[in-house]
Amino acid sequence: MIDFKVEIIKLIGTKLVDLDEKNLGLLIEKPPSPEMGDFALPAFSFAKIMRKAPNLIAEDLAQSLSSPYFEKIEAKGPYLNFFINKEFLVKEVLEEVFQKDQAYGSSSYGQNRNLIVEFSSPNIAKAFHIGHLRSTVIGNSIRNIYDFLGFNTIAINHLGDYGTQFGLLITAYKLWGDPAAIEKNPIPELLKLYVRINQEAEEDPSLRDSARDWFRRLEAGEEEAVSLWTYFREVSLSEFNRVYKMLDIDFDSWNGEAFYSDKMDKVVEELEDKNLLEPSENAMIVNLEDYSMPPMLVKKSDGSTLYATRDLAAAYYRHETYDFYKNIYVVGSQQNLHFKQLFQVLDLLGKDWAKDCIHVPFGMVSLPEGTMSTRRGNVVYLEDVLLTAIEKTKNIIADRDIEDKEKLAAQIGIGAVIFQELFNDRNKDYVFDWDKLLSFEGETGPYVQYTHARISSLLTKGDFNKDAKVDYSLLKETEEFEILKNIYSFSETIFDAGQKYQPFFISRHLVSLCQAYNSYYANTPILVEDKELKKARLALSYATKTVLRNGLRLLGMKAPEKM
Ligand code: ARG
Repeated sequence: MIDFKVEIIKLIGTKLVDLDEKNLGLLIEKPPSPEMGDFALPAFSFAKIMRKAPNLIAEDLAQSLSSPYFEKIEAKGPYLNFFINKEFLVKEVLEEVFQKDQAYGSSSYGQNRNLIVEFSSPNIAKAFHIGHLRSTVIGNSIRNIYDFLGFNTIAINHLGDYGTQFGLLITAYKLWGDPAAIEKNPIPELLKLYVRINQEAEEDPSLRDSARDWFRRLEAGEEEAVSLWTYFREVSLSEFNRVYKMLDIDFDSWNGEAFYSDKMDKVVEELEDKNLLEPSENAMIVNLEDYSMPPMLVKKSDGSTLYATRDLAAAYYRHETYDFYKNIYVVGSQQNLHFKQLFQVLDLLGKDWAKDCIHVPFGMVSLPEGTMSTRRGNVVYLEDVLLTAIEKTKNIIADRDIEDKEKLAAQIGIGAVIFQELFNDRNKDYVFDWDKLLSFEGETGPYVQYTHARISSLLTKGDFNKDAKVDYSLLKETEEFEILKNIYSFSETIFDAGQKYQPFFISRHLVSLCQAYNSYYANTPILVEDKELKKARLALSYATKTVLRNGLRLLGMKAPEKM
């Protein structure tokens, strides 16, 4: 599709020589109000080269420039204001939407390069709690965005399925484990065992010795240890998978920490060869003093490796396997230091791809006290949050006349949770708010989905036919133009959301499109007598619906046809 900024640069380029086109592009602004045009170029920075006052430059340019893409180019003080040719925009945008449809907004920018998004990564035998919601939902959306930008994305779930805690768990299981209870309610039962052994080990240190021994046996690949570990992993995964199914999220790789248990020697040896490893107290570390960071722990005195070591091995493996363009980790900001250390050590190891490893952190989510019964102990399980959202939605839509309320309640309820999660800068902490997130009014998931469904039924009612010819010149209203501009800039929003790893650019874009459309819908009759006018207005509605559906999909939400 046409890029108006590029057209402006080309236009100006014919008048002003010696200009760096890249910088010129950066100068172009979006004016604060429509009367000032759709783009503005401040003339200050040319004053020096041209030895002329900015207002005069603007005035001269306004007189001498003309373009089919702009209906007016006007000087206002030191600014040159550009007004997009509306008829041109209408045709350009709507034709592109009709042609690309499901792919509208996408691009081939990524050229199929490999891009890893690691997200979710819960810990085996521990709760999949509401904190993991953030990584799961943000990461999934980032993956969808990069897919849409033409990358070959690889979604990795770096499961926390390894470490000395499994020695403790095996010990506890051997002492007090009840297979039937675990079968029925795996994670809460395993969690209970884990809590109990930690308490009892305070009194009885021999439990820790036993745990160490079990972990050693696990690392050595002894059968009983491995089979218990496998069992814990399987029952945990079956719980996690229920949640992923509800969210409709899948992964390309489930290589968790354990996968790297036999791939660490290489990294440790390389650290030794490069003289990066030094002993400290009872561990081997990489000193990071020069970078104002505490040391990275690589090996404990008993020879067992650590979380960070497994991450080093994982980075090596990913580089070898995928030769990634980018390797993105969507992990909470509590681990900022860990990733800074990790990337620094990769850099010290001389890996030039260290710069392509990116930590995408996020703030915390809290659930206000008393808003949810914690049926399974002190932790709020994500699954229960989603089930509650569905339940609450069922009540809201109970007396509507629609089919398959079960399915719809799930699409709306889960969508509402996802949308709330993705509506703010990911770095911000936020408080989970049931009333707000399920409201059909305001900046919510149900509001966007509802606008989408409403347009769907309007199109059906108006017998809209996508293939019929449309007279674009009939769309002249200011409100129509506002909607079109929003549809036009959708792909730019997606690009920015990818660049900054900020899905909320998209959720906000959708909300403002809904607002623009709903206000239009309230003020302008769409199913009018005049057949041509009706067709044009329905075409605009269809384009709006397309952006809403594509945008919702990028966020990881469904777009129901009826609500
Ligand atoms: N399992 C970890 C947790 O729940 C997150 C793993 C993050 N990823 C990584 N490559 N270290 O805290």
